Formats: sequence, C-alpha cells, structure tokens
Amino acid sequence: MDVVTKPITPFDGQKPGTSGLRKKTRVFMQPGYLEAFVQATFNAIGGVAGKTLVVGGDGRYFNAEAIQTILRMAAAGGAARAIVGQNGLLSTPAASNLIRQRGADGGLILSASHNPGGIDEDFGLKYNISNGGPAPESVTTAIFDQTKTLSEYKTLAAADLDLSALGESGLGTMVVEIVDPVTDYAALMETLFDFGAIRDLLAGGFTVKFDAMHAVTGPYAKAILEGTLGAPEGTVLNGTPSVDFGKGHPDPNPIWAKPLVDMVMSEDGPDFAAASDGDGDRNMILGRGVYVTPSDSLAVLAANAHLAPGYARGLAGVARSMPTSRASDRVAAKLGIGSYETPTGWKFFGNLLDAGKATLCGEESAGTGSDHVREKDGLWAVLLWLNILAVRKASVADILLDHWQTYGRDYYSRHDYEAVDTGIANAIMDDLKAMTELPAGIEKIDSFAYTDPVDGSVSENQGMRIFFADGARAVLRLSGTGTEGATIRVYLERYVGPDGSLTEDTQAALAPLVQAVENLTGLKARTGRAAPDVMT
Ligand code: G1P
Ligand code: ZN
Repeated sequence: MDVVTKPITPFDGQKPGTSGLRKKTRVFMQPGYLEAFVQATFNAIGGVAGKTLVVGGDGRYFNAEAIQTILRMAAAGGAARAIVGQNGLLSTPAASNLIRQRGADGGLILSASHNPGGIDEDFGLKYNISNGGPAPESVTTAIFDQTKTLSEYKTLAAADLDLSALGESGLGTMVVEIVDPVTDYAALMETLFDFGAIRDLLAGGFTVKFDAMHAVTGPYAKAILEGTLGAPEGTVLNGTPSVDFGKGHPDPNPIWAKPLVDMVMSEDGPDFAAASDGDGDRNMILGRGVYVTPSDSLAVLAANAHLAPGYARGLAGVARSMPTSRASDRVAAKLGIGSYETPTGWKFFGNLLDAGKATLCGEESAGTGSDHVREKDGLWAVLLWLNILAVRKASVADILLDHWQTYGRDYYSRHDYEAVDTGIANAIMDDLKAMTELPAGIEKIDSFAYTDPVDGSVSENQGMRIFFADGARAVLRLSGTGTEGATIRVYLERYVGPDGSLTEDTQAALAPLVQAVENLTGLKARTGRAAPDVMT
C-alpha cells in the first residue's frame, strides 16, 4: 500500500458552524483545503485505524471528487471499511441510519444542505458520530483546533474508484462497500408507518405532489411514494438529482418552492404537497389552500404521532430549538410529557434522543425528526403526515384548524437579513445584550444559554430573546451556516388562545411586533434595508 505523507500549511477559518464546515465550492477546491479539514477531523477523533465510516453526500458539484479524496485518506489512515452510497449519494437521514444500522464508528456527509450547488455556489462537509448524529461541540472544537496546527496529511497513491458499481472492492487495505442509498432507509420507514393505510388513502384518489427540488430525495421519494405506496407516476417533481439542483435553491420554503406553493393554493391543487432540501433532511408541508409552518407541523405531529405504529406507545418528550415557536410545548404539557428548548442545530437533540428523553424534535427551519435516526428527516415528516391523514380522514386545513381550536395558535414568521456587514450585525446584537433599561411593553431580554440535561455541557450566546408583556416573543440571532457576511435572523411569534382570532394573515398579525423590534434595535435603519430578504 502506497501511503503518501504530504506537508500542509493550515488554512484560516476552518471552523465548523451550525452544521459542519460550509464554504464556497471554489474554497473547498483549493489544493489541500479539503484534505486539511478531513485530516483535522481524523486527528480529532483519534485517527481512523480499524474504523468503519459511512460516506455520502447530496450529489452537488464536487461531491464525487471529494468522496474520492476522502476514501484515499481514510484508507491511508488505516480505516477498515467505508460504506458509500452508490454514485456518492446518501441523504443526510439515510447516512445517519446507515451509521446506526451498520454499527459504524462515524460518517462524513458532504452537503451544504439547502444552499445552492455549483462551482460558484456552496459546498460543505460534516462529521457524524457513532450514534448517527452530528458531532457535538466537544468534537467540532477539537476539529477546529486541529485545523490550526496541522502540518501534514496522509493519502494513498491510488486511482479513483468506480462509485457506480454496487458491492465490495479494495482500496489499500480498506474495504469499500458501495450500497444502494435507498434500500435500508426505505425499510426503516416501513417499520414506522402504516404503509397499508397510506396505500389505501392514495388508491382512494387522495392526491400528493412531492418536490425533490432536483436534489437527493428524488430517488428516495420515487421508490417509496411512487413505488411501494403506489402513488401515480409524476407525484414526485424534479426527482433527478443534479449537481447544481437545476440551478435552483434547494430550500423547501414558500419562496424557493414557489411553483409548488402556487399549485397547492389553486382550486384544483393536490390534497397534500411537500418538498425537501438539498440533502433531504428538511421538509415543507402544505395542504390544499394552506401552508403549515414548521413550528405548527411539529406541534401537530406531536399531538397525532400515536396514530402511526412506530409511535403508538406514545412519546417520551418533545424537543424544539429555541427560536421554534412554543406551539409544541403546549402539546407536551397537555400530554404530560417533557418538553425541551435547545440551541439552534440538530446536534443539540442528540443527547436527548440517546437518553430517551425526547422522541420528536423540530426546528422552525423546516426540520422535524424523531429517534429513528439522529438527524432531521424530510421524507419521514411527509410519511408521518400521510399516516395521520390516512387515519383521521380529514384535510390538512381541517387538521390544522382543529389543532388551533384545541391549543390556540402561535402566529409565527422568520425574517432574514442576508449578507449584512459583519460589524453592523455584531453591533446590533451587542447593543441588545448591553441594554439595561427596557422600554415599556418589554418584560425581559436575555441571551439564551443552554445546559445539556444529559452531560451538563453549557452553550452560551445562542441568540437574544425578547419577551413582550403581552406574551409575544422575538428572537434575534446570527446564522451559523451563511457563507457571505452575516445573516441576521429575526424570529417573531404571537400567541392567540383557542377562542381568539385564529385565521388572520400571518404577516398582518405580526406587523406590530415587527415594528416593536425595529423600535428596539433599529435593525432596518442600521443595515439600510427596507425589508427582509427572506420571510418564512
Ligand atoms: C440553519 C437553521 C438551523 C439548522 C441549520 C442546519 O442554521 O436555522 O435551524 O439546524 O441551518 O440545517 P443557521 O444558519 O440559522 O445557523
Ligand atoms: Zn439540509
């Protein structure tokens, strides 16, 4: 075996963010850049000798080339086995499942999630640990430390492998096993949901559209929805993964999936529609005439999960990220189960899931999932919704209204200001933090800190929370996944009880709150923006 050791000078800024290292593709393509981060990761986990790693990604530009590099480096490091999705494809939840099912030591997932792909767009790489979940902060900090001191990396002088050929081959002393990316994931879904009931629903004329946004979920959705569940061909839209996601933005929200939203809002639209993102972990849920906010979706799923066989025994608890609306807390309170508020990022749910404290988790950013894997899971959320619809035999709109009439409604929206000057963004946050005298109508402002109830680790500075006297809440935080300047996220929510006005337009219902945040922070004035770039 021809192991080659190459000298390297550390690169600045290889600090993993909310979800691994995200950079412009050309940054990742610089000689040695990817290698430095991969070697730092291997060093941080005590090397890969004798280990089994799962490797795959969302198929974006540079995915396949990066996998070849990673495989050579894993082989040079003495890894025993690499389990790789065919053609380098694995959705993030499917990778998480493979790590768990195969008892792997960890995995490398190549994705920049919902960010566009292409040579001038974004690329990303993250490490997941043996529970199948994103590496916790202790590991990502160790990786970052390694990136600062690295002086060499090891690779193998070997040709590229054929990633399309299923089965085992050798790379140095490492076994490379190419697997179908869908099979094991689809089998897992079948253990959780009543596929018979969903099949009957679809056979009865209930219509579904699923927009894979030219990203990784296409093959999964086609196999499960159109294959196993018998939905008609054409149910899955944009179902062939492409390296640049059809030049689109694979982000399942009302802006980037507008054609789907327009379709479902029309008179003859489908009964149910959904979309997923670049790497398949996010979801957007729609019914004819309605958009279900991710926060509401988490709450509705929590209230109805027992209708699916995999959750018939009930839930241990529900966890949500701090900026996610408090709708799921109300369900947890009624069910008498635990509810948890964690910092943004799926890695914070890992301990709660492992310890059996939470069964369902969700984030306002279109992420929902459960203890079946250790990542959020777009198609899983779609299938759970379909299972619930099949049992309740009601429309999405009716289920949502019924939910609000039971628990009240948390009007909710997120306003993003993108590519803001970093200095201005930091100053806005610092000023909020330093505020001692609160204007009338504001009860409390705090900087969210989280103490993990399982391992006691503390994460500070996770966003500024503004609590209003009338029960409304606003949260400001800076994105940890952006690749250009700073992105300020403003999360807005206002609660109305079951007897209140439940069907107002969301932005209209939140307008006074938007004004109150502006009065407090001067955000629009200071950034020179008339309106947010994105409203979800
Ligand atoms: C964003 C979302 C967050 C999610 C993350 C990874 O992070 O807000 O909920 O976990 O992407 O998908 P942010 O850019 O806000 O740091
Ligand atoms: Zn994603």
